[in-house]
Amino acid sequence: MSFKAVVVGAGGISGAWLPNLKAEGVDVAGIVDINPAQAQAQADKFELEPLISDDLESTLKKVKPDFVVDLTPPDYHCATTCTALGAGCHVIGEKPMASSMDEARKMVRAAEEAGKIYMVSQSRRYEAAHAALTEELNARLIGSLTTMNCAFYIGAHFGGFRDEMESPLILDMAIHHFDLARMMSGADPIAVYAKEFNPRGSWYAGDVAASCIFEMSDNLVFTYTGSWCAEGMHTSWHGDWRFIGTKGTVMYERDAKPIGEVLAGDTGFHRPMKQIAIEPTPVAQGQLGAIKEFLAAINGGPAPQGECHDNIKSLAMVFAAMESSRKGQRIPVVW
Ligand SMILES: NC(=O)c1ccc[n+]([C@@H]2O[C@H](COP(=O)([O-])OP(=O)(O)OC[C@H]3O[C@@H](n4cnc5c(N)ncnc54)[C@H](O)[C@@H]3O)[C@@H](O)[C@H]2O)c1
Repeated sequence: MSFKAVVVGAGGISGAWLPNLKAEGVDVAGIVDINPAQAQAQADKFELEPLISDDLESTLKKVKPDFVVDLTPPDYHCATTCTALGAGCHVIGEKPMASSMDEARKMVRAAEEAGKIYMVSQSRRYEAAHAALTEELNARLIGSLTTMNCAFYIGAHFGGFRDEMESPLILDMAIHHFDLARMMSGADPIAVYAKEFNPRGSWYAGDVAASCIFEMSDNLVFTYTGSWCAEGMHTSWHGDWRFIGTKGTVMYERDAKPIGEVLAGDTGFHRPMKQIAIEPTPVAQGQLGAIKEFLAAINGGPAPQGECHDNIKSLAMVFAAMESSRKGQRIPVVW
C-alpha cells in the first residue's frame, strides 16, 4: 500500500527524511515551512513536486495525507503534531517529543483521542551495533546488568536554535542517549540526580554539559556525562559506553565493534576472563529504519519503537534531569 504524506519543517534534518520517504514509495504531497523558500529548495533538491505552503491546517485540508512528518524544532512539535492528529493523520516526528512533560502528555492524549499512531523517531535506535547490543544484553551475555555508563563529548558549533536553548545538551542530544539506555538495558527509569552546567568559554547561552546518575529498574545504575562544548578527543555521537554485568563487561566506544570480557573461571585476585566481540545485527539505519517501522505500523503491523506511550519515558528522563539540576535534589522520573 502506498501512502501520502505532508512534511512540516524543511531544515537540516529534512535532508535525512525526504530521500528516504521517496525511496519507500511515499508520496510527499506537501511541504510546510514558515520559510516557504526553504521548503521549495528542499523539494527541488530531492526532485519532489509537493504543494509548498507556510500553513499546516490549509495544507492538510487540501492534501488529505495519511500521515504528517514533524521536523520542526522542539518548541513547535506539540502544536504541529496535535494539529495533524486532530485532522485525523498519523504522525511520525523528530525527537525530542516536546519541550515539556505537559506538552508531551497532551500529545499522547491527542493520539489516543484521534485513534492514530504517533511515533517519535529516535534515529540512533536503528544501528547495527545497537541492535546487537540490545539482543546480547537481554540474552545475559555478561550476566545480569548492574552498571551502565555513557560518555558523550563533542565540540559542536551549530548556530541556530540550539545556541539559545536553556538545556541544549539534555533536551536536544542526551534524549538519544537516555533512549538508547532504555533500549539496550530494557530497564525503566526510576529517579535521577543531575548537575547541568555551561563550561567556561562556552559558545552556548544555556547549560550544554551535564553529569547525571539514574536509578533504573532491577537495581541498575546508569551514569551519563556529556558536553557539546568539548573541543578535541571526541567520543562517538552515539556516546562511548561501558556495560557491566554479574559475569563480565562490554565496551562500545568510538563506533568500533563492541568488545568485552566474560568470566572464564572463579579463582584468583583477578578472575580469568575470556575475550568476546559482538557482531553487528544488520538493520535499516537511522531515519530509514524508523520510516520502515512506521509504515508497517500504519499498515496494521506491530507498534513501532518510539510509539509515544513508550517514548515519553525517555523524555521523562530528560525533564527529571533538568529539574534535579535546578533543585539540587534527587528527582523521581514520572511520565
Ligand atoms: N535524529 C537526529 O539525529 C536529528 C538530527 C538533527 C535534528 N534533529 C531534530 O530535528 C528537528 C529539526 O531540527 P533541524 O536541525 O532540522 O532544525 P533547523 O533549524 O535546521 O530546521 C527547522 C525548520 O523548521 C522550520 N520551522 C520552524 N518552526 C516551524 C513551524 N512552526 N512550522 C513549520 N516550519 C517551522 C524552520 O523554518 C526550518 O526550516 C529537531 O527536533 C531536532 O532535534 C534530529
